[in-house]
Amino acid sequence: MKTQGRHLLASLALLATLFEITPGAAAAAEPANYGTLPDGRIVKSYVLTNTHGLRAVLLDYGATLQSLEVPDRAGRLADVTLGYDTLPGWLGNTSYFGVMVGRYANRIAGGKFTIDGKSYQLATNNDPGGIPCHLHGGPEGFHRKLWAGRARERAGARGVEFTYTSRDGEEGYPGTLTAKVTYWLTDQDELAIECEATTDQRTVVNLAHHTYWNLTGDPKKPILNHELMLAADTMLPVNAGLIPAGNLAPVDGTPFDFRAPRAIGSRIGAADEQLKLGNGYDHCWVLRSGTGTRLAARVHDPESGRVMEFFTDQPGVQFYSGNFLDGTAKGKRGVAYAFRTGLCLESESYPDSPNQPAFPAAVLQPGAAYRHNMLWRFSTR
Ligand code: GLA
Repeated sequence: MKTQGRHLLASLALLATLFEITPGAAAAAEPANYGTLPDGRIVKSYVLTNTHGLRAVLLDYGATLQSLEVPDRAGRLADVTLGYDTLPGWLGNTSYFGVMVGRYANRIAGGKFTIDGKSYQLATNNDPGGIPCHLHGGPEGFHRKLWAGRARERAGARGVEFTYTSRDGEEGYPGTLTAKVTYWLTDQDELAIECEATTDQRTVVNLAHHTYWNLTGDPKKPILNHELMLAADTMLPVNAGLIPAGNLAPVDGTPFDFRAPRAIGSRIGAADEQLKLGNGYDHCWVLRSGTGTRLAARVHDPESGRVMEFFTDQPGVQFYSGNFLDGTAKGKRGVAYAFRTGLCLESESYPDSPNQPAFPAAVLQPGAAYRHNMLWRFSTR
């Protein structure tokens, strides 16, 4: 009986392969038409699935993660990202939901920096505390560009590679920079992002991924019950303009200590000068040094059981608790994203590095390659 059963299964599997209907089979990304930009160019979407039913949708506009469905502890899939259903939403995405940010993610004080004695003035498109700065690559940063997409496949993973060439002077930055961002969805329930960039002139570069996560799968709920672990002993205190003051502050004994997992909401309301400046968490943690891609953060939602581990090879991670969300962004399924209903973990060079000689340099030379690897691993407990 047992042997017969095995034979039957084997024959079924063979049939399934012949007809490409293997149960739980993962599909390669086929681009589909997602909408049309005001200038007539077509935006494409790519769907990635894995053998466990996880599903990621990517857009070439902004090299965006449009959605990611992962199971809860009962196996129910839900989208754990904030964003929009259709292109018009993404065109008005002032919160940077799901996008790739560049050429320089995070803030540059006054939008100014100097390379080889030459000063550059970038757009000042943000002014926390009334202090102007350059944010996330400028008003027409990489998140607003149509990237060139190409489906990829490798053992145990399906992916999409996006490339974008930013010309010399675009958004005020020197040098023509070619950026490549490849997303992979693996059969180990991981979403990996590999970034690479090269330039023909010395320039600054800092690409970041800006998904807002809500592991409950219900973005009407705040993320304050999510438990967070950050592998960081120090963080970068900011001034009123949310620009790092330059020093590394130990997290020990402060609401910034996430070395052991803590509910995000447990101390977010503490009387703390840095929390006041950020209106919550909006700071760069200095990850423990180590070589290669290492565990930077772990997020657990006790309600759904979803766990997300985040690995990166970058020196810092900006943990942003969605403090600027105020219900004006109407997102997927018509949900108005309210205060702190999504959290971001942006691995990156330290903010304002171009102006902070004590920080690791974020300058790219011609002939060298910028690289940035990120990986999110999903499980339940
Ligand atoms: C980043 C910044 C925040 C905010 C968001 C976008 O995470 O750190 O201050 O600007 O982007 O709203």
